Amino acid sequence: MKIPFLDLKKMDGELKNALKSKFEAMLEKGIFSGGEEVQAFESNITNYLHSPFSISCANGTDALELALRALEIGAGDEVIIPAITWVSTAEVVVMVGATPIFWDTDENGLLAADWEEAISPKTKAVIPVHLYGKMVDMEKLMKKARYHKLLVIEDGAQSFGSFQHGKAAGTFGDVGCLSFYPTKNLGALGEAGMCLCKDQQVNERLKLLLNHGQVVRDNHEIVGKNSRIDSIQAGFLNVFFDQFPSNQAIRKKYAKMYIDGLSVIDEMKLPLDILDEDHNAHLLVIQTDRRDELKNFLLQSGIGTAIHYPHILPDMKPFRSKGEFKNSRNLSQRGLSLPLNPWMKEEEIEFVIAKIKKFFLTGD
Ligand SMILES: Cc1ncc(COP(=O)(O)O)c(C=O)c1O
Repeated sequence: MKIPFLDLKKMDGELKNALKSKFEAMLEKGIFSGGEEVQAFESNITNYLHSPFSISCANGTDALELALRALEIGAGDEVIIPAITWVSTAEVVVMVGATPIFWDTDENGLLAADWEEAISPKTKAVIPVHLYGKMVDMEKLMKKARYHKLLVIEDGAQSFGSFQHGKAAGTFGDVGCLSFYPTKNLGALGEAGMCLCKDQQVNERLKLLLNHGQVVRDNHEIVGKNSRIDSIQAGFLNVFFDQFPSNQAIRKKYAKMYIDGLSVIDEMKLPLDILDEDHNAHLLVIQTDRRDELKNFLLQSGIGTAIHYPHILPDMKPFRSKGEFKNSRNLSQRGLSLPLNPWMKEEEIEFVIAKIKKFFLTGD
């Protein structure tokens, strides 16, 4: 059996047909920027996440950059971010001229609760990242941030569909940023992203920034850029959105199979909270000291895995920064993402479980 980590070709035929029909309908209408699909997509998200404003844009990285610019974070400002995350979280801070201040995470890659110790007189904001789909404790974080008068930008790129006490990831902070990159739980057939916010002025600034600073055509109020969502992607996302609840149910079912099947192995730490409401089961990351060995063994058995992420950001050339970052570093050396997506079959999950058990329990 060959099990790639993720193979988007495997979407079922019915879904592929729905996507083709959407494309044909849009081709006939001839509207490829803005239009009703974009409006429908934004209102789908607004209703589902209960976000007062949902502003779609070109991708999740832009969403973060737009958020920083909308909140007027720039040169001379410091922004606290976790030491392990996808590079976008740090790169946008540098792109706007601010300085990322890295802080260690807990054992599971979420910004450590003592992040307040990183605050200096220059600190303007904090970016909690809901890594792997698991939410940072946002009630606690917001309380601390407000006490210190800091802005909060949630990096919810991996956490679409996670809710904490019924409140959606991305709706706690001043701005929440989402990515609809194809591999995400709600993914486009290309690039797309979104900012969520509750303040009307921030909403207006975000809309201006992503559309050349234009209030109406040729009336440029501020310096902006083109980060509009592609209408075709909004159309595809509306199709995927209809499938989102059933895809989530499959993810959770498979996550439970992994947890139940692998809990007999002592040498491995499982993400036991993956079945909770505040985890959308985007990635199932196990931790073991024998990570590289296991990865190779699974590869020999035809199973693809991935590492999110093999290096911590403060060790990378563009962001070089001193510090121990013990938990983040550990995760980068011990974490392994197992294949988990709605396009997989139950037998494939069983096969992966059997191989992992063989590796740990029979000494192969
Ligand atoms: C944590 C995190 N932040 C930001 C992004 C950026 O999103 P995009 O790839 O849509 O630019 C990603 C996407 O992978 C991500 O995982």
